[in-house]
Amino acid sequence: MSNDYKNILITGVAGFIGSNFAHYIAEKYPLYNIIGIDKLSDYSSRTNIASLEATGKIQFIKCDISDYSALDIVYQTQNLDYVVNFAAESHNDRAILDPTVFVKSNVVGAQNLLELSRQYDVKRHVHISTIEVYGEQAPDVPYFVEGSPLNAKTPYSASKAASDMMVRAYMQTYKHMDIAITHCANNYGPYQFPEKLVPLAITNVLGGKKIPIYGDGKQMRDWLHVNDHCRGLDLVLHREATAIEEESAWLPEKLPIYDFSARQEHENIEIVRIILDELGKDFDSSVEFVHDRPNHDRRYLINPGKAENELGFKPEISFEDGLRSTVRWYVDNQAWWQPILDSSENLQIDWATFKI
Ligand SMILES: NC(=O)c1ccc[n+]([C@@H]2O[C@H](COP(=O)([O-])OP(=O)(O)OC[C@H]3O[C@@H](n4cnc5c(N)ncnc54)[C@H](O)[C@@H]3O)[C@@H](O)[C@H]2O)c1
Repeated sequence: MSNDYKNILITGVAGFIGSNFAHYIAEKYPLYNIIGIDKLSDYSSRTNIASLEATGKIQFIKCDISDYSALDIVYQTQNLDYVVNFAAESHNDRAILDPTVFVKSNVVGAQNLLELSRQYDVKRHVHISTIEVYGEQAPDVPYFVEGSPLNAKTPYSASKAASDMMVRAYMQTYKHMDIAITHCANNYGPYQFPEKLVPLAITNVLGGKKIPIYGDGKQMRDWLHVNDHCRGLDLVLHREATAIEEESAWLPEKLPIYDFSARQEHENIEIVRIILDELGKDFDSSVEFVHDRPNHDRRYLINPGKAENELGFKPEISFEDGLRSTVRWYVDNQAWWQPILDSSENLQIDWATFKI
């Protein structure tokens, strides 16, 4: 049934996870008609989907999800079955510089999509959120789960938490709609814009620059390969429909919310060590410790138990293998990232001198 013809809208398709998901869907569901939209921000790259466009496997439309009228035309013309929303401003550093654009894309844009999915009777709507909506993990909390309170503390995570609340409101108010939310651990893999830790570290070394490590580098992060994330999203997109129960009003874990992690928690500094080892470089001469970002989350971890039990989710890529193969992908694909670096301003912010 899942391989029947379907019109699927993937938003944020020129970004890291959205483009990987488009490749995944094109490969696994060749009968699906993929429509990809993106506003093509300075931190995206349409070349991520160039091979899909060249083979006619995707139709790309430039569209800003915070522009309701433009988005309405996409819904009017495409007869959508599925909507999967990856479009978001996604970088914590940039959110500190300009929170407004984060609210516009991540909150207003997400609500525009929900409303149009309601107006046009979309069969299934999946909203991609993040582990960061749960905020900072207290020392006595082993991990977050779907019922954990939303407690975002940064402008980026607050904008994502705000859209989570709106999605939950749609789920419970418009019960005929079929909506799911996913929260995911930090992703790594191909096509990640070289401003985030893993691609920044790799491309800096390949470009003869040092790797900046924020603070002491001991921030703990929960890591999942982007392909495993796509497998989890596939399970959510094609799961059996379930009714929204009354008690989910006070038990949010009963809502269609799924947390994805590979239970792989590592310090940032450890990630850098593996990257340097794969590139055959020495640690001390390749890194520089720099002023930490203000209000940097120290640790967060989610438990994927619900996704494992209800959806049969099981990551297939071990952390070290996945990270090493990611390093090799960047080594082999300089033609992808070099033009991005050449056309981007300095992607690192000097927090020692920056006034907030
Ligand atoms: N990268 C991670 O580790 C991670 C982890 C968990 C959740 N997420 C979530 O996954 C989603 C995708 O993240 P990503 O890492 O691929 O980010 P990304 O920044 O690489 O991609 C986001 C894409 O959305 C586009 N976009 C932004 N605002 C838009 C708008 N108003 N209209 C249309 N397009 C717009 C950008 O141009 C970009 O191509 C985000 O919602 C993010 O919160 C990411």
